[in-house]
Amino acid sequence: MTESLLIKPFRTPARGVAQIPGSKSITNRALILAALAEGETLLTGALFSRDTKILIQSLRTLGFKILDDEVAGTIRVQGMAGNIPAKEGSLHVGNAGTAARFLTAFLALSHQGKYAMDGDVAMRARPMSGLLNSLASSQTFAYTAEGKPAQAFPFILQTSGQLKDLTVDASASSQLLSALLMVLPLRAGASVKMSGETVSEPFVVMTEKMCAQFGRPLSRDTQGRWFCPNPGAYLSPKIYPIEPDATAASYFIALPAVTGKDACVRLQGYQPQGLQGDTAFAEVAKQYGADIRFEGDSAIVHSWSDLRGGDFDFNQFSDTFLTLATLAPLANKPTVIRQIAHTRKQETDRLLAMATELNRLGVKVEPSPEALQADTSLSSLTIYPSREALLKTAKKGPTSIHTYEDHRMAMSFGILGSYDLLGDGTPWIKIEDPSCTGKTFPRFFEALEALRSRFVTIAIDGGAASGKSSTARAVAQHLGLMHVDTGAHYRTLTVGLLKANALPTNIASVEKALAQFKLGSALRGFSSHCLLNGKIASEAEIRSPEVNAMVSAFAALPVVRNYILNYQRSQVELAQASGFAGLIMEGRDIGSVVLPQATLRIFLEADAEARRLRRSSEGQSDSIVQRDLLDSTRTAAPLICPQGAVRIDNTKLSLAEVVQEIEGLIAPALHVS
Ligand code: CDP
Ligand code: CDP
Repeated sequence: MTESLLIKPFRTPARGVAQIPGSKSITNRALILAALAEGETLLTGALFSRDTKILIQSLRTLGFKILDDEVAGTIRVQGMAGNIPAKEGSLHVGNAGTAARFLTAFLALSHQGKYAMDGDVAMRARPMSGLLNSLASSQTFAYTAEGKPAQAFPFILQTSGQLKDLTVDASASSQLLSALLMVLPLRAGASVKMSGETVSEPFVVMTEKMCAQFGRPLSRDTQGRWFCPNPGAYLSPKIYPIEPDATAASYFIALPAVTGKDACVRLQGYQPQGLQGDTAFAEVAKQYGADIRFEGDSAIVHSWSDLRGGDFDFNQFSDTFLTLATLAPLANKPTVIRQIAHTRKQETDRLLAMATELNRLGVKVEPSPEALQADTSLSSLTIYPSREALLKTAKKGPTSIHTYEDHRMAMSFGILGSYDLLGDGTPWIKIEDPSCTGKTFPRFFEALEALRSRFVTIAIDGGAASGKSSTARAVAQHLGLMHVDTGAHYRTLTVGLLKANALPTNIASVEKALAQFKLGSALRGFSSHCLLNGKIASEAEIRSPEVNAMVSAFAALPVVRNYILNYQRSQVELAQASGFAGLIMEGRDIGSVVLPQATLRIFLEADAEARRLRRSSEGQSDSIVQRDLLDSTRTAAPLICPQGAVRIDNTKLSLAEVVQEIEGLIAPALHVS
């Protein structure tokens, strides 16, 4: 018996940072490019799924040094500048199409190598011949255990290390072409041409863009032949952030359409001009009524103004058609979804599956499921909205949605079920086999649940090196809160005041300098940084010995504290407008002066010796005892543990333990049951 999951409608607006996994296509391309680069690359926001783990393991087998941290979402790759350390090896690629194709072309770079390659039964049936035939023209041969030429897995790859003028038939899969494009720059004079057309053009564009990001842009000549005008090993970008998966993001673009008028969801790192073709869904959603704002490196989705219906061609981003189709029953007008014939041969016949399940909810669709069954060439779907029809079905109890082992069916109907159709929170949709989301998004339903949250404000105070910043930063990232380090505000002001030759003993000089300052904020990741006259002061500047020596003296002045107070309080609105689930602010007077009404106030302490050791192990020259004394004895907003604050002595606790304790305190306030 497959289990099922009853979807609980949202009775409060969805809010918070959507926990979207990294893109698989980008993660696997980045692994190959980083391995072929000179120097080390840190991939952040990477996807850890079956397919990416296979590629990581294969690269290790080939002698590459790779350190991965699944909790942090990072992979550290030691590039070998185009060399492949192991000249022999045995690789198993499972059913990972990208790993299978990318590794085969990658190995062709090995001089006189011999590799035994295999995959799952399903992989053995998947197309490889276009790639293998192409490589054969450059003396890299695949043959079977019997020594005959091989056209598919398993095979033994005998490599030459050369790449000449290649021609590839990539009609079966664009990955066959992408695999070759990525190795082109490593051999001067190499080129690739397609013998016909390929499907999924956006993925070829993704490959081209990523080659350029790793320092080796490709060009195409008048015959359509790709080559690298400036060949060589890839150049490591040092840190390479993987974009969140754009298809997975579509569910969280859709969620604010169905969860009340103050919904606000943040898609961290989502960029419309990014590498993934499925970001085109954002444009369709906007035409439909979505309120999506792109700010900095992220997108913020507010409640949709409308659900307009309309006529859309989903051919180039068809994985997202299911997301729109499940909103369509709530629209004001019918929705037509066109050009999705190829989705009838994916995880399931998606067009038929969608029509059948919408029908099950009482929704009228054209063609009908029967017509679709009879004619497999039909390629579009019209959905006629009717709340009355949905209500009539819902009143009989929750409808069980069949998911056909298709993760996208489960996720899109999960969004529709989040709509409070009956107005009293009664569930009306049940998802069968919810664990089928594991293919691309194992924690989808947890990510959905995490957006059922209330806006919280968390104040953290404590002495120097008591662990405020590192703790607050980790909590912010885990719970989707905006982090504000007010110590950095005072340090930034100190940089400016020192530049203006102001002295803490000369109030007039301080006032004069402050009058010239203009403050602003810029979001970097989960932290809001203070802009002084349009600029963020660097870490080196704000933590210099001069600033360490002077910051507490300036911070003790009421004129300085009053100057910054409203700015600090305004961070609450910034966090709200930016879709965060709350704000976590740390400093010396947050629970007592800046946010005395905070949802939760925490006071961190650790004994002086532990704190001195922490600072010195960071290599900072900083007299924290002296600073603490100044901070706690000053008259204006001294460092105190405010009444009612939770005191946590972390002298003997690890960072992870403090973080866990604080998250446990926040959770009941944050989550709406
Ligand atoms: O990182 P560390 O704890 O050493 O210091 P910080 O948080 O960067 O703060 C630097 C200085 O700014 C503190 O020593 C205080 O003098 C001042 N500060 C303050 O007065 N009030 C705050 N809310 C935060 C910092
Ligand atoms: O912001 P604040 O000055 O209060 O301290 P911090 O910069 O967050 O922490 C100072 C150092 O102590 C960092 O290197 C932390 O990783 C470390 N730390 C620790 O070892 N154990 C803790 N429980 C908290 C912080």
